[in-house]
Amino acid sequence: MIQIWPKKKTQLPLIALLFFLFIVSSILYNERHIQQIHQNPSLKQASLLESTAPTDFSIPKRPPEVLDRFTKCRSTVKYNGRKARWDVQVEELNSRREIEESCDLFSGKWVFDNSSHPLYNESDCPYMSDQLACHKHGRPDLGYQYWRWQPHSCNLKRWNVTEMWEKLRGKRLMFVGDSLNRGQWISMVCLLQSVIAADKRSMSPNAHLTIFRAEEYNATVEFLWAPLLVDSNSDDPVNHRLDERIMRPDSVLRHASQWEHADILVFNSYLWWRQGPVKLLWSSETDGVCEEIDGLGGMELAMEAWANWVASNVNHLKKQVFFVTMSPTHLWSREWETGSEGNCYNEKTPINDEAYWGSGSDLPTMRMVERVMKSLSSKVSVINITQLSEYRKDGHPSIYRKFWETLNPEQLSNPVSYSDCIHWCLPGVPDLWNELLFQFL
Ligand SMILES: *[C@@H]1O[C@H](CO)[C@@H](O)[C@H](O)[C@H]1NC(C)=O
Ligand SMILES: *[C@@H]1O[C@H](CO)[C@@H](O)[C@H](O)[C@H]1NC(C)=O
Ligand SMILES: *[C@@H]1O[C@H](CO)[C@@H](O)[C@H](O)[C@H]1NC(C)=O
Ligand SMILES: *[C@@H]1O[C@H](CO)[C@@H](O)[C@H](O)[C@H]1NC(C)=O
Ligand SMILES: *[C@@H]1O[C@H](CO)[C@@H](O)[C@H](O)[C@H]1NC(C)=O
Repeated sequence: MIQIWPKKKTQLPLIALLFFLFIVSSILYNERHIQQIHQNPSLKQASLLESTAPTDFSIPKRPPEVLDRFTKCRSTVKYNGRKARWDVQVEELNSRREIEESCDLFSGKWVFDNSSHPLYNESDCPYMSDQLACHKHGRPDLGYQYWRWQPHSCNLKRWNVTEMWEKLRGKRLMFVGDSLNRGQWISMVCLLQSVIAADKRSMSPNAHLTIFRAEEYNATVEFLWAPLLVDSNSDDPVNHRLDERIMRPDSVLRHASQWEHADILVFNSYLWWRQGPVKLLWSSETDGVCEEIDGLGGMELAMEAWANWVASNVNHLKKQVFFVTMSPTHLWSREWETGSEGNCYNEKTPINDEAYWGSGSDLPTMRMVERVMKSLSSKVSVINITQLSEYRKDGHPSIYRKFWETLNPEQLSNPVSYSDCIHWCLPGVPDLWNELLFQFL
């Protein structure tokens, strides 16, 4: 199968597609190797109990079976347009809380500034991930660490770690989503950890919910693995299936039982919806009949289920909720340099064209997210990272990360073929996403 790859011009689109699928699946596959799993047997029980709580959805009479990687569809039919019936109609909630924002922080440019950035050193952060530690894994150019975001019509408030800890005092900050969101969480932990003495901080083992604790502030910075937001057969951060993704379009219960306790929530979801159709298994379905739907349609149902949870459960005076928009990929260099055939490998500087928008950032998805966010505008703030991250073709690990699988000689002779152009090196782009979050807290 590898042999069909080299230089047959006529097959380029097919090769590009195979290549993309290979990259995505090999990168998602890596999730399972991150760390040893720490089993938490009480988790399933907890989420089952939660489904009888009064704030929950009206649908399940008895709790539906928890999905895991052994879940199978007995048969699959085409999605027939069914929607969940929610207690709260999100559309009716459209009481806009006008955000007095005189300046668009998301519109600006990257300026080289090696006096203020990076905000921390890669080797000083004991919680750094081997997938993101690009310098440690041999990246020779360090330029990607030195860029500062400059909005067009104002300045960002300078990152101040003490001030951030004061904002977090006595609180739980939880990131919920996929591996991009996990990268942002690691960035946040690295940004925050340096001022806490080693014996006053701790990190729990990698699990569905992973927790960084700082004793003196009585605060936690947590990451909840929920790549599809709704309950699915991919909810184990280590042992999940990628070939057949099955989701419950009408339930976020398993994850919500964890995230409902957080004071500040930062959600994302995107790339897992970009790999073809997904299967829906409604909570009321007892015969294992799944419905197949395209990724965007599936994401829309998931976002509606999530939005319904937010609408019915979030008091914006008590909880702050953020949604991080899609993280761009840089899989085809011809998109920023006509005629070239590479990807993000060997890219050393940001893109200057302010209008640049890559094909990895799906516009129909953005429109859908925008619509859902508008309906929740009084309860959710959008951290719109897409455009500003689009410029950072230089920010990805490419080949400078730990590889869990062994690479064959053919791959090794062509570094482009095994580059990660999806995740981001740290220190780097996700630090800015957190600086933006800091502005809004
Ligand atoms: C910052 O960059 C300038 C110009 O490239 C260089 O002369 C200077 O030594 C750098 N300073 C640091 C602290 O890296
Ligand atoms: C990173 O390390 C260098 C050299 O060890 C030091 O000069 C610099 O202040 C450190 N930067 C931060 C943000 O800690
Ligand atoms: C950072 O914040 C703390 C607490 O709000 C404040 O005392 C300190 O002056 C700030 N530091 C800088 C450099 O602004
Ligand atoms: C620590 O924070 C939790 C909320 O996260 C709160 O319930 C608890 O009372 C706090 N403890 C102290 C000693 O402040
Ligand atoms: C994010 O910003 C882009 C422009 O950079 C805009 O097109 C898009 O609608 C915004 N998304 C949301 C959800 O507000």
